[in-house]
Amino acid sequence: MTTALFSPYTIKNVTLKNRIVMAPMCMYSSHNQDGKVENWHKIHYSSRAAGQVGLIMLEASAVTPQGRISNEDLGIWSDDHVEGLKELVSLIKELGSKTAIQIAHAGRKSMADGDSIAPSSIPFNDQMKTPVEMSIEDIQETVEAFKQGARRAAEAGFDIIEIHAAHGYLINEFLSPLSNHRTDQYGGSKENQYRFLREIIDAVKEVWTGPLLVRVSASDWDDRGLSAEDYIPYAQWMKEQGVDLVDVSSGAVVPARIQVYPGYQVKMAETIRQGAGIPVGAVGLITSGIQAEEILQNERADLIFLARELLRDPYWPRTAAKELKTEIKSPVQYERGWNN
Ligand SMILES: Cc1cc2nc3c(=O)[nH]c(=O)nc-3n(C[C@H](O)[C@H](O)[C@H](O)COP(=O)(O)O)c2cc1C
Repeated sequence: MTTALFSPYTIKNVTLKNRIVMAPMCMYSSHNQDGKVENWHKIHYSSRAAGQVGLIMLEASAVTPQGRISNEDLGIWSDDHVEGLKELVSLIKELGSKTAIQIAHAGRKSMADGDSIAPSSIPFNDQMKTPVEMSIEDIQETVEAFKQGARRAAEAGFDIIEIHAAHGYLINEFLSPLSNHRTDQYGGSKENQYRFLREIIDAVKEVWTGPLLVRVSASDWDDRGLSAEDYIPYAQWMKEQGVDLVDVSSGAVVPARIQVYPGYQVKMAETIRQGAGIPVGAVGLITSGIQAEEILQNERADLIFLARELLRDPYWPRTAAKELKTEIKSPVQYERGWNN
């Protein structure tokens, strides 16, 4: 039987061998607090590549030191980061997977040293810093930082870039009316709330011609906030700007109760896929091969992003293949033990 999960998928010039994506997961393991790749990153990402994951996406990598979630985040704010990232990319590619990096700024959710910045001076909660409201100059500098991050990602040899516009970090803070109370051209209307992301996408595309993904939080889980339907026009604009796929997550813009159950965000992915006519990735409590196959075969999403399940089982593609009664290639060194 031909499974959808193990069928290849082409985005622009990049063909993934299957639909399985390692979702971005912060490791907080740059122990020298310089944003550089360490041995842990090399082992962690390469293991999932050996496990036959089609696309390995590196964790949120900060485009400025101030944009880190913690002091131990991976970084892409300096040319000094390129060498380590390049080595990591080559290790993953040698194992047959494609590579992506999520470029990010934590905004008001930064717990790294120093002040945090955001569209408006409203803290996420009373334990977090009160951010400094960004000036137009701050906005321009941050757009430029995303552009330089994309340029470095290209130099390091990544196949794909994902812009992190989800989980209540800086870009998401502009998109949502719950965190964006600005009265200038970056707040108020939907067009204005989108402007910061629009400028980032345009700036990134000046230095990056490869596949471009954007991760969004397609629900604020708050009646006064955004829903998946609200993300349809945003996704249409992304498509017009040349974004290739929207990676659909949700929440974390404001503290909220989220009802989680298997595949709890898939419906949002489906809504955006149908509403905006753009390919999407589904993520969130997807744990079995059958569940992933259902999502793909019913055309609810184009790619399956897995986070925690890949922490538990780096060889999940093999587990899923067994469940779907199909065989997948092993690393040649593992052939004697792989499919029996
Ligand atoms: C340890 C850990 C770190 C994470 N770091 C990031 C991140 O850097 N960027 C991001 O967009 N999401 C991050 N997430 C969210 C995951 O990518 C994913 O969306 C979420 O865990 C739901 O998927 P799952 O049920 O397969 O774990 C992280 C999740 C975990 C468990």
